[in-house]
Amino acid sequence: MAGPRKIHLLCGHIRQFLLLYISLSVTLTTLGAPVADAGEQNWLPPGSTTELRRDPPPEFIRKGTIRDEKWLYGRLLFRSPSLLGEKAVRIGLSCNSCHPNGHVNTEFYINGLSDRPGRIDVTHRFWQAGFEDKMSNPIDIPSLRGVRETAPYGTINIFPDLHAFTRHVIVTEFAGPSPTPEKMEALVAYLNSIGNNGLDEDQSIVQTSTDMSYLSLLRAPLEDKGEAKLNELIDLIRSDLGRRANMPNAKGDTLRRTVTGLKEINEKAAAKDFTAALMIYQELMARQ
Ligand code: HEC
Repeated sequence: MAGPRKIHLLCGHIRQFLLLYISLSVTLTTLGAPVADAGEQNWLPPGSTTELRRDPPPEFIRKGTIRDEKWLYGRLLFRSPSLLGEKAVRIGLSCNSCHPNGHVNTEFYINGLSDRPGRIDVTHRFWQAGFEDKMSNPIDIPSLRGVRETAPYGTINIFPDLHAFTRHVIVTEFAGPSPTPEKMEALVAYLNSIGNNGLDEDQSIVQTSTDMSYLSLLRAPLEDKGEAKLNELIDLIRSDLGRRANMPNAKGDTLRRTVTGLKEINEKAAAKDFTAALMIYQELMARQ
């Protein structure tokens, strides 16, 4: 069961570590450069691992899930540190860091907070005043497979549904920007689609590819000339490509070409030349 308080405390730790390890010289994954100069490791205590370094566990999506743009957007947000705010951006922490493909990151380890990988010590001196129990008490990161069936959520503050719980995690616990209703709906649609391991006879599952393309999300804002939405999506997609570039077996050339195309779309849209932007988009789609 989820513990919003625990997550909150965990965030407290992360904040503390950020204060200790922030260095102005470290640049974020710049949008134009798919390969990050400085990984999240630089922002964390030495020996910490917040991203899986091997192939992620398979992603099980319930059969019958309509993989429309809302779902695709939700999947992208689940993998985006920007959802959790500035501090998460610095260490590259997203929902997917702890729950890769909706399962568990058994390698997640923050030196000083984890007794072993896949677990987090939430009883630590960096807890906020009043919460500390002075005991070492790491907890397992849970899998989100079949999470739609496990309501209510939370151990201290109980939330009746995924929508309320997720909003609380983002805004209160991770101090992220208040998500728009559109973002919340998309994220919850994605969470609801995460299936279990298929042992349940009703639970047919569909396995997805790890390098799913989000480019189709750009079509609507390109056609509607929605520049703000377009920029938001391009930022999300570019940083997703940046993270992929750091994965084993990354297809560097393809990623780079896509990033260049996105940059061009951005430039054309900024110059209000949506016709040219749409053409670049179509070329990119044709090469997918
Ligand atoms: C730093 C690791 C970490 C990150 C990042 C994280 N979680 Fe979790 N999540 C946990 C832990 C640990 C628990 C278990 C809390 C408990 O048992 O008290 C949990 C529990 C949950 C649960 C409840 C599962 C259940 O069956 O009760 C949901 C849903 C969830 N997380 C979704 C998310 C979403 C959505 C995000 C991104 C907005 C996210 N988490 C980000 C570590 C993380």
